[in-house]
Amino acid sequence: MAKIHQNGDTPTLNTRVLPVNASNIGKICSKSKEEIETSFIEDWDLDTSISNPDITLLKQAADELRHSNVPVAFPTETVYGLGADATRSEAVRGIYKAKQRPSDNPLIVHFSSLKQLRDLLRPSASPHPSSHQAPSQQSQTGSDSDPIPAIYHPLIKQFWPGPLTLILPLPSPSPLAPEVTASLRTFGARIPAHPLALALIHLTGRPIAAPSANASTLPSPTCAEHVFSDLQGRISTILDGGPCDVGVESTVVDGLSVPPVVLRPGGVSLGELRKCDGWEDVRVGYEDRSLKGEAEGPRAPGMKYRHYSPRARVVLYEAGKKLRKEGLESVGKVGIIRTKRWKIPDGFDLENQAVDADQKSRNGEPSQNGTDASKERLNPLARILAPPIPSPRRLIPSSSESTLTSSEIWDVPLTASTKAIARGLFSALRDLDRLGVDVIYVEGIDDGKGRREGDEGERNDEAHDGGTRDSNEEKDLAAAIMNRLRKAAEVEFAVTE
Ligand code: TXA
Ligand code: MG
Repeated sequence: MAKIHQNGDTPTLNTRVLPVNASNIGKICSKSKEEIETSFIEDWDLDTSISNPDITLLKQAADELRHSNVPVAFPTETVYGLGADATRSEAVRGIYKAKQRPSDNPLIVHFSSLKQLRDLLRPSASPHPSSHQAPSQQSQTGSDSDPIPAIYHPLIKQFWPGPLTLILPLPSPSPLAPEVTASLRTFGARIPAHPLALALIHLTGRPIAAPSANASTLPSPTCAEHVFSDLQGRISTILDGGPCDVGVESTVVDGLSVPPVVLRPGGVSLGELRKCDGWEDVRVGYEDRSLKGEAEGPRAPGMKYRHYSPRARVVLYEAGKKLRKEGLESVGKVGIIRTKRWKIPDGFDLENQAVDADQKSRNGEPSQNGTDASKERLNPLARILAPPIPSPRRLIPSSSESTLTSSEIWDVPLTASTKAIARGLFSALRDLDRLGVDVIYVEGIDDGKGRREGDEGERNDEAHDGGTRDSNEEKDLAAAIMNRLRKAAEVEFAVTE
């Protein structure tokens, strides 16, 4: 269990959740001559001449980021972030205080444009540190003409704005507060793809340090209500832009080492990275428990630091394993997260239920109301409304003969594409927690690690993947999903029967 921040622990602030419609925040004006859609991240401006409630809220949030030491929660395309001005120590300390987490984990710094990042890497007070480097070294160190190391250029072209964080050398002197980097000589940088995140950073005019906006150890928040549930009373402002599209955090890559390394799997896959110049040999640098070749039965709990964990006990089944019947026979509340193959367990049916009342707000209504396709085409900052995230549904015994005694079983069917599983996973863990389940059984998915030839399983529904095996890119997103699940789980089942 992480040691939590003890100072000023009592939640006393009045927390407001402010829906902001991305379609109303105005057109961006690219400062480059090229096509807006492809190059606007070089340097861009927001047309602030229009005035409406959405822009007013964004400007207020930007003011808070500039002047207050209480962080502001905002949506990104991956998960909600808890932002603070990365150049002010007191503001950054506010993040650790609100999250109640130890300050030894470095934070990602978010930028709205490449110009803003280059300005930070090239502090005017001193000559650039790479100016005496030989050209051969500039792939990792940057050059006078571009302080962003050349190794990252193909990735930036391909994936920014987007779910990719680059590890960069800290400039000297560094404008970043030391609390951001946890004493490292590098820092993580990302330009997010969410229009509200971009507009907020732009209006603030500062680099924004932001970890995921959850309380320490809980799953990352993928909608405003998750943030509210964790940080109510600890922060003042949550910008609500609806549910996040990706649902798992950004991929973190280190191109400063040779060969380059993936430090955290996430929204950009290994396969996609390998297609880029200089990244063909990228290595996996994160530790992930794999069940390959392990003995049968559950692993001992408490083998690792828990993270992304709901309060309920999480039991992860590797892909291809059947849900154990005895798990459902125990008395207590049970949650089931189904992904690719599991069906509703034998002996159970869906109870007729109205959609969870808060499902609507979670799925972006009314904040995204009024979004129409023509506005989205006009405004590259606007985004397509994402499909809904499934809520838990109650299962009831299908016949009176049922011998199953569990008092309550809740089912979350994330049975669709790997992308939809990523989007809905953290929400499912949190929803089941809110329902007070004692244990959550999760059907893992094939990431090429946990499954062995000859595994048993229900193989009759390949149709979920269009009747084909998962593509490499799907597998890589699956790796990000399983990485989070292995961290959340207390026990895992390698083999079921
Ligand atoms: O999608 C995301 O990345 C979200 C949204 C809000 O942008 N942010 C996020 O931040 O997940 P956080 O603080 O929860 O995770 C930051 C990750 C950690 O794994 C941290 O160790 C790594 O980035 N990191 C940050 N700076 C680093 C550095 N200098 N060297 C190595 N790893 C670093
Ligand atoms: Mg986090």
